[in-house]
Formats: sequence, C-alpha cells, structure tokens
Amino acid sequence: MMRGGPVLAVDGPAAAGKGTLAKRLAAELNLPYLDTGLLYRAVGRLVLDAGQDPAAPAEQFARALKAEDTQCKDLRTQEVARAASQVASQPAVRSALVETQRRFAQARGGVLDGRDIGTAIFPDADVKLFITASPATRALRRFVQLGEDPKAEGATARLAEMTAALQARDAADAGREAAPMQVAADAVVIETDTLSADAVLAEALRVVRERLGTHAS
Ligand code: CDP
Repeated sequence: MMRGGPVLAVDGPAAAGKGTLAKRLAAELNLPYLDTGLLYRAVGRLVLDAGQDPAAPAEQFARALKAEDTQCKDLRTQEVARAASQVASQPAVRSALVETQRRFAQARGGVLDGRDIGTAIFPDADVKLFITASPATRALRRFVQLGEDPKAEGATARLAEMTAALQARDAADAGREAAPMQVAADAVVIETDTLSADAVLAEALRVVRERLGTHAS
C-alpha cells in the first residue's frame, strides 16, 4: 500500500504513557496523530449512554460512530475505560473501526497509539514501539492524571483499586481472541519506569531515526 508518509505504531498497556509519547513524536516529525483508544472509548460511551450492557453486541454503535463522539468530554473515566475494553473484545466492533484507522494515515502517514496498531492495523508500519511500565508506575501516573492526590486521605486504597483495575483491563486486552495486545515481533520495547517523558521521547526518536534513515528530520 502506498502511503503519503511513514506510519509509526505506538502500542502498550493502559496508562504506560503512549499518548504523551505519540503526541510529542507526531509534533516532532510533523505527522498526524491518532489516539485509537478514543475510538473504543467513544463506542463504550455511546453504549453506556444508550443504557446497554457493554458486554452485549455493540457493532451498530461502532458503525454509527461520528468524529464528534470522540471529542466528548467524559471519555477518560474508569467506567468508560472498562466499557471500551469490553466493546473492544468484540471482533465486529474492531472490524468496524479498521478502515477509519487505516484511512487516517493514508495521505501523510501518521503516529497511532493503541494496542494492535503494529500487529493488526498496520503490520507493515515503518516503526513499531511498545511502551510499557510496571503496574504500580502506571497506576500512579493515571491517578495523578485523573486529578487525584497520592498523599490525600484514603489515597492508598484508591491507588490499589486503580492498580487492580488497570491490571484487569490489561489481562482482558492481552487475553482476548480478537487482535489481542501483544508485542509485535519487530517492535522496540521501551520500559518507562525510570524514564522521564523527555527521556522516553529521546529514546523513541533515536529508534525512529535509525529505522527511517535520514528521512526523519
Ligand atoms: O489510556 P489507556 O491506555 O488507559 O486506554 P486507551 O488507549 O484509551 O484504550 C482504552 C481501551 O480500548 C483499551 O483497554 C482496549 O481495550 C481498547 N483499545 C483497543 O482494543 N485497541 C486499540 N488500538 C486501542 C484501544
């Protein structure tokens, strides 16, 4: 398939920092950026708003998805994340979203973050990164991102709940039959536990430049 620019796949488990990295990579390399998790979150939101169980068939919601549904404000909640993971396990939901993702990168290439970008959506991506960190690190990052104070009263218990929720979602995402989260054979894994966002970006850019040769500025 001829594309108008390189495709960079950024996959990994929940709250590993894929979004932060992918957005910064896209800005550095002047490529379009797509957060594919938002597509599944938006479908999960539509299902919840319709009063439907996210475990029930949701293909019609994925087919009816509009761009503005991904701009809805409350897509970042834990409830929506869980619903997203449930609808994302349905093969019919995933197939309904494949073309949108492939078309996104057609004109100029792009940076896409998700779970299956390097394995299922773009198995021929120019660069594949798998961004990960320990469950404790990821839970703390998401905790702070959601506006919680880790030193507040009761924070330890809520942080433990968050860790358990992330691990449950990772197990579901990695264990499902349809495009499970896994490290592509040709992906470079970046462990981010001890790395700052700047350090992750620097390492990713090093990999990108190595893989793309002199084309990346
Ligand atoms: O931000 P976080 O890493 O917590 O999640 P996300 O990337 O917004 O994805 C939410 C859920 O959507 C995941 O738990 C997956 O079940 C699903 N997803 C997927 O199946 N495939 C993708 N390419 C992206 C997300």
